Amino acid sequence: MAKDYAAHLHASKSDATYTLGRTSHETNRLIEQSRIYGESTRRLCKRAGISKGMRVLEIGSGAGDVALMLAELVGPTGQIVGVDVNAEILDTARQRATDAGRQNVEFIASDARSLVFSEKFDAIAGRFVLMYMAEPREAFTKLITHLKPGGIAAFQEPEYTLYPAALHPDTPLINQLITWILNVFEHSNAHLNMGIGLYQAFVDAGLPPPAMHLESPIGAAKTWAGYRYMATIFQSLLPLLEKYELATAAQVDVDTLAARIRQEVITSKRPFFLPLHVTAYATLPT
Ligand SMILES: C[S@@+](CC[C@H](N)C(=O)[O-])C[C@H]1O[C@@H](n2cnc3c(N)ncnc32)[C@H](O)[C@@H]1O
Repeated sequence: MAKDYAAHLHASKSDATYTLGRTSHETNRLIEQSRIYGESTRRLCKRAGISKGMRVLEIGSGAGDVALMLAELVGPTGQIVGVDVNAEILDTARQRATDAGRQNVEFIASDARSLVFSEKFDAIAGRFVLMYMAEPREAFTKLITHLKPGGIAAFQEPEYTLYPAALHPDTPLINQLITWILNVFEHSNAHLNMGIGLYQAFVDAGLPPPAMHLESPIGAAKTWAGYRYMATIFQSLLPLLEKYELATAAQVDVDTLAARIRQEVITSKRPFFLPLHVTAYATLPT
């Protein structure tokens, strides 16, 4: 656990293997994730100034949770364009937008880096997406070209370099889970320090230094939803943990995982941290 993960954003030639997979389980995990992280994403977008009537581009929409929250912020006079490279998951996002009666949300199946628009946007937002791109700073600079002068950039990315810190209960299962998470993301070529890396991405793209916050849902209550959420992360990670020969299904034992984490946390009397993330926002100079 003493390994130094805090290197600069590495310049990998190819995108990270999407560590969490493309299963229906992963779609459900993303919806569950939004219950845990949704409040901070909403706070980020509101602090950043995303408001009624704005036209917003959202990167890496997944099952549509961020797009649906943005649709609420911009209201019926605004418009949300969500993009995801995974066409299949956008069927779920579209269905959820229809079910929610949101007519001002559109989803495009595309790699966000190859988008072309005739009109620029009032804001660009994204959650947990840049960390999977080969050259996230270059990608970000390209994305910001879709922003109007005076437009808003609001992004949220995990910061795994801080995850091994002595924040957690120092117990066998929790230590093992953190090691597995760091190893699987590292093997997949994902950027473990994308959260802090947002600073450089913003500045390189010509934005002012962003306002940034570090956040993590933490808990130790018997009924805390974080234990179950951690187990859903491991259900999605399992195929890659096995592929990279980091762990077997029997070692992870997803079905009992939430209960075992809960037990260690309660016994240790120390709260457990879900993956930490950084929020960053700034406005493009006019
Ligand atoms: C961890 S999920 C997050 C989904 C959503 N932002 C949320 O927070 O609920 C990352 C999403 O980014 C998408 N993605 C990754 N690289 C992308 C790219 N280059 N262009 C568009 N979408 C991308 C993936 O397909 C996946 O749906």
